[in-house]
Amino acid sequence: MVALGSGKLTSCVSGPGTDVTSVVLADISAPPAGQWVCPDVEADARVSVVTCDIGDPATATMLVDQDDISVFHLSAIMSGQGEEDPDLCYRVNFDGTRALLETCRHRATCPRVIITTAGATFSGGAEMVVTDELRSVPATTYGTSKRMCELLLNDYTRKGWVDGRAGRLSSVIVRAGAPNAATTGAYSSVVREPLSGVDIELPIADDVSHAVCGHRGVVRNLLLLHEASAEQVRETISLFWICSIVNP
Ligand SMILES: NC(=O)c1ccc[n+]([C@@H]2O[C@H](COP(=O)([O-])OP(=O)(O)OC[C@H]3O[C@@H](n4cnc5c(N)ncnc54)[C@H](O)[C@@H]3O)[C@@H](O)[C@H]2O)c1
Repeated sequence: MVALGSGKLTSCVSGPGTDVTSVVLADISAPPAGQWVCPDVEADARVSVVTCDIGDPATATMLVDQDDISVFHLSAIMSGQGEEDPDLCYRVNFDGTRALLETCRHRATCPRVIITTAGATFSGGAEMVVTDELRSVPATTYGTSKRMCELLLNDYTRKGWVDGRAGRLSSVIVRAGAPNAATTGAYSSVVREPLSGVDIELPIADDVSHAVCGHRGVVRNLLLLHEASAEQVRETISLFWICSIVNP
C-alpha cells in the first residue's frame, strides 16, 4: 500500500512529482536497505517505509493519519495462497481493505482511494469474454475477496464517504525475482526462467488467450485513474467505479 501525502499527483504523471510532499510505502515486509529495485526511490527523502500488517485494524488508523492524503492499496494475499489459507486471505484482502476504507471515511476530505482488483472476480475459463453484463461469480477465495472489496468500495463511494476507484489488473509480466503465490505466475515464469537458463513447463494449454500487461503501464494507468476527475470516472466507467487495466 502506498499513502501519498499532500496534494496533487498531476506533476507525477506529466513530469517530476514536485507536488507530492511525502510517500509512505507500507508492507508487511520491507526490501533490505540498498537492495531496492528503484534506488532513486529509496534515496528520495520524501519516501518512508512502514512495516505493518494491514489485517490489523490499528494499521489503517496509523497509516491514514492526515486529511490531505491519497491511498493506493495494493497489498494482498494472492490466489494460490488464498486457496491454501482462506482465513488469511479474507483477513488481509477484505478486512484490511474495510479497515482502510473505514479510516478514510472518517477523514475530513473524502480521500481518493485506488484499489487493485483482478480478473479473478470472474470465474474464468478460456472462452470467457468480460463485458459489463457478465455476472461476476468468482471461483476462488482470492477472487471472492477482491469482488467483496470492489462492492464495498463502490458503496463507500456512492455514499460519498471516499472517492474510490478500482482497477482490475490483467496479469503483470514479467515479475522480477522468485515466483509469487499467484496462480497466474506461470505467465511470468515462462518468460523469466528460460532467460536464466532454467527449463519450465507451462501448466496451461498453449491455445489459451490471456491478457497481460507490463508494470510501467500499470503504474501509469493507476496514476491516471487517480488523476481522473469524478466526472470523467462517472462518464467513462459508469456508476460502478471499476475499470479494467489491460494495456499500457
Ligand atoms: N501482478 C498481477 O498480475 C496482478 C493481477 C491482478 C491484480 N493484482 C493485484 O495487484 C496488487 C499487487 O499485486 P502484486 O502482483 O504486486 O502482488 P505481490 O504479492 O507482489 O504484492 C502484494 C504485497 O502485499 C504484501 N502483503 C501481504 N500480506 C500483507 C499484510 N498482512 N499486510 C501488509 N502487506 C501485506 C506482500 O508482502 C506483498 O508485498 C494486489 O492487490 C493484487 O491482487 C495483481
